Amino acid sequence: MKRSTSCSFLLFFMFLLIFDVFITSSVITVEARKNHMKRSRPHKQHQKHHSNGHSQGSQSPSASQMATFDVMSFGAKGNGVSDDSKALVAAWEAACKVAGATVKIPAQHRFLINPITLQGPCMPHLTLQIDGTVLAPSEASSWPKSSLFQWLNFKLLHNFTIQGSGTIDGQGSDWWTPSQIYNMQKRFSKQIPGMKPTAIRLYSSNVVTVRDIRIINSPLCHLKFDNSKGITVNNITISSPENSPNTDGIHLQNSQDVEILHSHIGTGDDCVSIQTGCSNIHIHHINCGPGHGISLGGLGKDRSVACVSNIMVNDVWMQNTLYGVRIKTWQGGSGTVKNVSFSRIQVEDVKVPIVIDQYYCDKHVCKNQTGTVAICGVKFDEIRGSYAVQPIHVACSNSIPCTDLHLINIQLSPSLHYRGFQQPLCSNSYGNSQPPLLPSPIHSCLTTARPFIKRISRSHDALC
Ligand SMILES: *[C@@H]1O[C@H](CO)[C@@H](O)[C@H](O)[C@H]1NC(C)=O
Ligand SMILES: *[C@@H]1O[C@H](CO)[C@@H](O)[C@H](O)[C@H]1NC(C)=O
Ligand SMILES: *[C@@H]1O[C@H](CO)[C@@H](O)[C@H](O)[C@H]1NC(C)=O
Ligand SMILES: *[C@@H]1O[C@H](CO)[C@@H](O)[C@H](O)[C@H]1NC(C)=O
Repeated sequence: MKRSTSCSFLLFFMFLLIFDVFITSSVITVEARKNHMKRSRPHKQHQKHHSNGHSQGSQSPSASQMATFDVMSFGAKGNGVSDDSKALVAAWEAACKVAGATVKIPAQHRFLINPITLQGPCMPHLTLQIDGTVLAPSEASSWPKSSLFQWLNFKLLHNFTIQGSGTIDGQGSDWWTPSQIYNMQKRFSKQIPGMKPTAIRLYSSNVVTVRDIRIINSPLCHLKFDNSKGITVNNITISSPENSPNTDGIHLQNSQDVEILHSHIGTGDDCVSIQTGCSNIHIHHINCGPGHGISLGGLGKDRSVACVSNIMVNDVWMQNTLYGVRIKTWQGGSGTVKNVSFSRIQVEDVKVPIVIDQYYCDKHVCKNQTGTVAICGVKFDEIRGSYAVQPIHVACSNSIPCTDLHLINIQLSPSLHYRGFQQPLCSNSYGNSQPPLLPSPIHSCLTTARPFIKRISRSHDALC
């Protein structure tokens, strides 16, 4: 009886989800169509700006391949004080109409940019070349109320690149102090309380590359991909102080086919955070720390359905982080996390290198509930180095245990700062382990699954 009630609840929930996806995609289609019509109208205005001769307009395809739209030619001052937002938007709108165009933010200048949306659809192969410094408004109190969600908002782009040797500075320190958070909450009480802007957000975009740039001091998350596909993040640096709250490095949500490589990330929260709707994510050759490590979740908050699959994380070096590699789910959710592999993770002075936590909670106590996001098929292979508190913490749900876990070649020893008192913790966790396994109690972490355990975990697959 209880079971069938919860099933129909879930069906209803799925219906809502599908309905929502339908609405969202029709809105996107309409918006895309509108933009397409706008784009196809003749538009001469930008040509008069190009006295520097870089852009000869869009008449001949060969010339347009080379078109550069320098924000300085669109009225930017580049002194770090004047508001250069309008110039950047104007350069963007002109470049958007030309295939292979580049919007240029030149070196040796500082550009103060207010929250803006740079929107597609644009002609293919648009590049935003950032060689100078882009600055967010430094005072939280001067932030426009209407744009608390993000600072630089890119959306509906296809085949787009952000690159350059420049820096994107979110100047977030004002947002990090508790007194400021209190003031903000009073001021924006009509908005979502405690809301702070993400520095760069890419929404509903495909075939996007972000490379070489530096992103620092975001009020909240530094680089967020939402509802996007075909993402490459290569050779970037993300940096914020260790004590800056909620400053995730890269945040992925509802996104597929993502590769993040050869980058340095050190912040006050997760280096990379993978949320619901993500699959085919490959993260490798990353330097992570300080921060909270690389995380899947928290998934299943407020009884939501979460689906995450085919995640591969390898060749990561972590230093002085709170966690290493981690999967966290809230009590009461549903859906699955499956086919996840963490391999060749080198940890140095990491508090807890290996974590699965199905009792994730951001308050003191959360109520235990029936159901959780099921976890199956997770491999930890070659996790080596030193830990400061506990080598492994695997707390799986009572109702739906974790299955098909693999612990292979784990070699962890206490660091110089070791202040642990706890043995490895493993509960409701089934799978196989393969030596070497150090410290040796890890040998008894996983139990071989009996058939009924496998059935329980499989029964949850249907939701995803
Ligand atoms: C991006 O656009 C360029 C120029 O049109 C094209 O050569 C390239 O194949 C496109 N890439 C993808 C993945 O669509
Ligand atoms: C990585 O980015 C830095 C900083 O922009 C640049 O100097 C370097 O050439 C890039 N490396 C590669 C391999 O592209
Ligand atoms: C598991 O994920 C990897 C990528 O991380 C993928 O190559 C592989 O095909 C997936 N396996 C299954 C059974 O889906
Ligand atoms: C929830 O269950 C876990 C595992 O059985 C237990 O450790 C924890 O104390 C429980 N929490 C509450 C609030 O009952």
